[in-house]
Amino acid sequence: MPSALFENRCTDLINDLTSSGQLKPFYQIESPMRPIVNIDGHGEVLVLCANNYLGLADHPEVIQAGIDGIRDYGAGTASVRFICGTLKCHRDLEKKIAGFIGTEASLSYVSCWNANEALFPTLCGPDDVLLSDELNHASIIDGCRLVSKKTAKHIYKHNDLNDLEDKLKQSGDYQCRWVITDGVFSMEGDVCPLPELIELCEKYEAMLVVDDSHGIGVLGKRGRGTPEHFDKFGQVDVITGTLGKSLGGAAGGYIGASQKAIEVLEQRGRPSLFSNALPATVAYSAGKAIEVIENDPSIVTRLHDNVAKFREGLANLGFQCTPSPTAIIPIMIGDEAEALKKSARLFELGVLAIGFAFPVVPRGEARIRVQVSAALTDEHIQRAMDAFAKL
Ligand SMILES: Cc1ncc(COP(=O)(O)O)c(C=O)c1O
Repeated sequence: MPSALFENRCTDLINDLTSSGQLKPFYQIESPMRPIVNIDGHGEVLVLCANNYLGLADHPEVIQAGIDGIRDYGAGTASVRFICGTLKCHRDLEKKIAGFIGTEASLSYVSCWNANEALFPTLCGPDDVLLSDELNHASIIDGCRLVSKKTAKHIYKHNDLNDLEDKLKQSGDYQCRWVITDGVFSMEGDVCPLPELIELCEKYEAMLVVDDSHGIGVLGKRGRGTPEHFDKFGQVDVITGTLGKSLGGAAGGYIGASQKAIEVLEQRGRPSLFSNALPATVAYSAGKAIEVIENDPSIVTRLHDNVAKFREGLANLGFQCTPSPTAIIPIMIGDEAEALKKSARLFELGVLAIGFAFPVVPRGEARIRVQVSAALTDEHIQRAMDAFAKL
């Protein structure tokens, strides 16, 4: 029997969220992820909040690859990597990822959350210092929390190179300096100043870590992510990313780094030492997603065209969207309840664009986050604009 005190605490929280209009709805989708999905009890809606940036979640070759994976290797590894859970398809995928993102080697994980929780406690030592952008993703924040208590940790202001340089100047006594940033910031839709970050890291001999979960498949002519966008492909020390967005959308993540760093992660990283490996279905389908992009980069051009059309359309309707090349467009509302109300109104109009409120974003900075996909047709974009016009 759960304690009455605990049950009451849960009830109070849910009641608070309900009465303040902050309770998140969980829509039940009854079709593959694609621009138009079927929602239980509601019918068809246009999805503007999936991370399905290249529309590969229901690509026939990606689906077929997943089927091939389950046929060749069964449902799963039934083991962690170092015992008997390393399959040939893991090694094949890791070679593909490393080639695609421009690192010497890579290691796959069941999620990028796991990858970020593996990275920092495994590679950062007690005499190091971590300098992390204030708007970095929650998985980076939690990953840094797992690092030794003795390790120094500082937050620098969002994309503020002066603040970062001040902190680097003050960190001369530490063994290894780590600068940690999202490539594309998931709630703001802006990009890190990568060339300047690389320059600063070279100047202060710091290691640069970029989580490119929202950049991979999206930025750069060939979809290789933030480094390609800035013509810095192959120049970032450590890149993490997800397979759960543009690369097929199933699940899974990776760390790309030097061969030596990957060996240390394999030997010492707790998430892969104590938890099962990526299912073969995903190793196959994500690997196929990479092949699809490599064979047909026009899919990335289509995404870039759609992003430009979408941003222009919203601006014409009077929405203030900060210019950015990314596929994430936050529409700032401010008040939490108001953002969720507007999102609910869009839903009535047949458009799924979720309102984000605390604790996902800071209090008072609630927003509707629109995400663009290459799979959207002009008709879909027009339908979205019609709904936004009614907001
Ligand atoms: C920047 C960033 N890093 C990591 C993650 C976690 O990815 P995954 O779903 O693979 O755990 C996300 C997902 O939202 C993200 O936006």
